[in-house]
Amino acid sequence: MALQIQLASTDATSAVCDALIVSVCQGTVASHPTVVALDKALGGSLLEHVKAVEFEAKLDQVLELPTLGRIKAKKLVLLGLGKLAELDAARLRASLAAGVRANSGASIRTLHLVLPEAELDFRAIGEAVALGAYRFTKYFTGERKPKSELGKVSIHLARGSSASAPDRKQLDLGVAIADAVAIARDAVNEPPNVLTPEGLAEVARVLARKHKLKIKVLDKKGILAAGMNLHYAVGQGSENEPRFIHVSYVPKKKHKKIVFVGKGITFDSGGLCIKPAAGMGDMKSDMGGAAAVLGMIAAVATVRPEVEVHAIVAAAENMPDAAAYRPADIFTSLDGKTVEIINTDAEGRLVLADALTYATRLKPDIIIDAATLTGAALVALGKTCSAFYSTEDELARALERAARTAGEQFWRMPLIEELGEQLKSDVADLKHTADRWGGSISAALFLREFVGKCPWIHCDVAGPVLADRAKGMYPKGGTGHAVLTFLNFVEQAGRPSK
Ligand code: BES
Ligand code: MN
Ligand code: ZN
Repeated sequence: MALQIQLASTDATSAVCDALIVSVCQGTVASHPTVVALDKALGGSLLEHVKAVEFEAKLDQVLELPTLGRIKAKKLVLLGLGKLAELDAARLRASLAAGVRANSGASIRTLHLVLPEAELDFRAIGEAVALGAYRFTKYFTGERKPKSELGKVSIHLARGSSASAPDRKQLDLGVAIADAVAIARDAVNEPPNVLTPEGLAEVARVLARKHKLKIKVLDKKGILAAGMNLHYAVGQGSENEPRFIHVSYVPKKKHKKIVFVGKGITFDSGGLCIKPAAGMGDMKSDMGGAAAVLGMIAAVATVRPEVEVHAIVAAAENMPDAAAYRPADIFTSLDGKTVEIINTDAEGRLVLADALTYATRLKPDIIIDAATLTGAALVALGKTCSAFYSTEDELARALERAARTAGEQFWRMPLIEELGEQLKSDVADLKHTADRWGGSISAALFLREFVGKCPWIHCDVAGPVLADRAKGMYPKGGTGHAVLTFLNFVEQAGRPSK
């Protein structure tokens, strides 16, 4: 059964539920109307306990209490949101999502959530609740198969009054946006034997059908016939043949045209330049960029901004095989440049090169690509922040703004021209890798060769698309990183007056 998330008009203190979460801003515990009412129902013991354990509702401070049958909720949770002055949409989303995630395990079927006394962004609240309730359990059987799951979340205002109709609408919109983020999370979490390039194409077809978007999928033959030889080369060593995917959202009124391109390597073994065994399994997430652009276009189709948006995915599996491409091979890209292969593990920039050329032919105002491109980006910024590059300062600022509202980390990196000198080949137009120093930068410089004069942003999302622990709105595993940032970016472009 799908999770129901709704605004309640009933009294939270008498709610019959498995868990009642009351979210509170720092220093306002004793004045929060629901806390006051609960304290009364509990004969004054709640605030006494709050004082005894020094619960102040600092950011991420949590107080869990059994209710021992004295109120109808089985468990009471006070969730600290930190200072009211610092409670923007990003922080609210992260805190509420983490609170819901911690209280939506096996034994919790009904959850009531009370909001703080503050001006609230109901879209962020809808996103938070649905993102927090996300689970990936489809491969569990027997004991580990969830016997029940969270079925209903009721949301209450601090004062118990009912929310306005526009607030309800924003809440529903937030839930629908979170569903789009879940598309990206699911795609990263799916194992690579299931989520093959064709599997990724099927994900795109399903979302295109649901949102009535146009879709085109090229198979191996189509990729070759179109002249995308770099993309074809990467896929030629796998039984799971490559796919080129193009989904488009074309509204009647539009201020801009933005084309997103995602790296869709459904598994990256490294090819003939094979990776070491340790950690190779993480390379199921090498389609995290593709997942982000597909999630983004589903979210865009939900919000319907006045911007034409395209999501392009170059999907392939990088495997060693008798037919695999090799170091020293030379291939001609879609735009006619010859490329000498140096290391078959640098496959991402190859599939992207052809997809970027395809993107320029759509004559967009902006191209944005997302790719789990280099280990160097992880070394530079850690596992929770994406590296991004842009040919235009104004676009870079717009991406930073979009990321801030989303509560996602993106850090701009420089396109250091000197590093590009290493991309000169003795036998072809371009070598496809440079040495390891500045590896994320030289990868970006290689991609830049294929965007022509189009204003462009490249996001190296290698770290944050897959998390090794849950934090804020991100669960462990596939995070859906970049979907909300890209959605915000598109929405900004659809409000051209600002
Ligand atoms: N998919 C990897 C990059 C990656 C590494 C993503 C770790 C997430 C976590 C990419 O295809 C790759 O193998 N890059 C090489 C490039 C090198 C051979 C020039 C790398 O970063 O080592
Ligand atoms: Mn690789
Ligand atoms: Zn890769």
